[in-house]
This record gives sequence, structure tokens and C-alpha cells, in this order.
Amino acid sequence: MEKTEVMTPKSLDDLIKLLHKLFESDKINVEEVQQIMEAYDSNPQEWKKFAMFDPTRYTRNLVDEGNGKFNLILLCWGEGQGSSIHDHTDSHCFMKMLQGELKETLFEWPKNKTQDVGDMVQKSQRILKENQCAYINDSLGLHRVENDSHTEGSVSLHLYSPPFDTCQTFDERTGHKNTVKMTFWSKFGKRTQSLLHLVGIAQFCLQLKIHDNKCGERCHKLFDMVQTACC
Ligand SMILES: [Fe+2]
Repeated sequence: MEKTEVMTPKSLDDLIKLLHKLFESDKINVEEVQQIMEAYDSNPQEWKKFAMFDPTRYTRNLVDEGNGKFNLILLCWGEGQGSSIHDHTDSHCFMKMLQGELKETLFEWPKNKTQDVGDMVQKSQRILKENQCAYINDSLGLHRVENDSHTEGSVSLHLYSPPFDTCQTFDERTGHKNTVKMTFWSKFGKRTQSLLHLVGIAQFCLQLKIHDNKCGERCHKLFDMVQTACC
């Protein structure tokens, strides 16, 4: 049987254009998306404007909104940084390595969905290397992603379809789950307003008692937002 030729994106912009084309159709060919993402030869000059690191946690940087069909997000993992064990909210998740390595650990879903059930069961573990593209969805299990390096940051490009902004995280020892809201560190190369910065202003405002009732309401809304914000 003849093998279909894999399209090779010449640049990140080219990759984004090809992805837009592929996602015009309502049916997603997982293998084709994975192959095209893998065929892109990572060039830091093309993606460095999106790559913003934070010394305390990994960051999520929005690159493209895929006409509402998918989100393309660049994740920056500092030395030793990693995610919680999490699901993917019934979406497809493609993870293309742009720089360094990441360790992916796959887990089974906790058996009892209503009660804590003890240690979560690990299915497999692998190291993802530069230019490799991994794929996961909820039927394959849950995963945790970590940069184990003590000397090098890692960068990965994630495609989620359909896009989602909340997911569930799981405690490895109990299987207990939490719903978390995901936020962006930057969008299209520009740093998003830090909630903590806004809260700082709100606190200052409250301390000086220079706010009226409306302002007070806004301050409390900000505190609520920070409580729900997560990775
Ligand atoms: Fe993930």
C-alpha cells in the first residue's frame, strides 16, 4: 500500500496555517495532526517571543486560537518544574517538544470516582525528546508532565481541541480530584495582567479606605478570581 506523504511545515507560521486547514473539517485525523506537528523542525527564532519562564512554576502562553476549533499553547518548564496529575476535559491533547526533554507519566483513572481510593496506579513512563509529538485523551488515561533537568529549561507546544479552560487534577496518594481553572501567563507574546498584581492594588486601595462601595465590590471579585486561578 502506498504511504500518504506527510506535509512538512517550513516554519511555525506554516505549521499554524496547516493546522487551521486541517481543523476546517469537523473530523480530526489524530495521526495526521500528530505527524504534521512532529514534522515541524523546532526553530527557537520562530517561537522565542512566546517563551516566557517563571521561576516558581511552569507557564502557559497562548500562541493561536485556531478559529475557535483549537488552542495552541506554548508551555515553558523551568528546571525541576512539573504539572499535577490531570485529565484533558474530553479534548484531544497534542504535545510537541520544542526544546529540552520532558518526562511523561501515565496513570489510570481512579477506580472509585466518589471516594478517595489510595495510591493511583501508574501505567507507563517515557521521556519526550526534542521535536517528538505525544498525544493523549481521557480514554488513554491521566498524565503528569515534568522537566527533570537541573540545568535546562524545556519548552513544549500543546494543541487542545476543542479548547478548554478547566480541568481536573488528582492527588497521587488518594486519587482525590479537584477542578481547577487554567490561566494564561501571556497571550500572543504579551504578558497578561497578573492577578496578584491586581490584588496588590486592591489591597492597597482597601488599606487606604479610598474606595467607595462599588470599588469594594470589585476588590472582593478580584479575591474570588485569585482563589480559583491555577496552573
Ligand atoms: Fe496534559
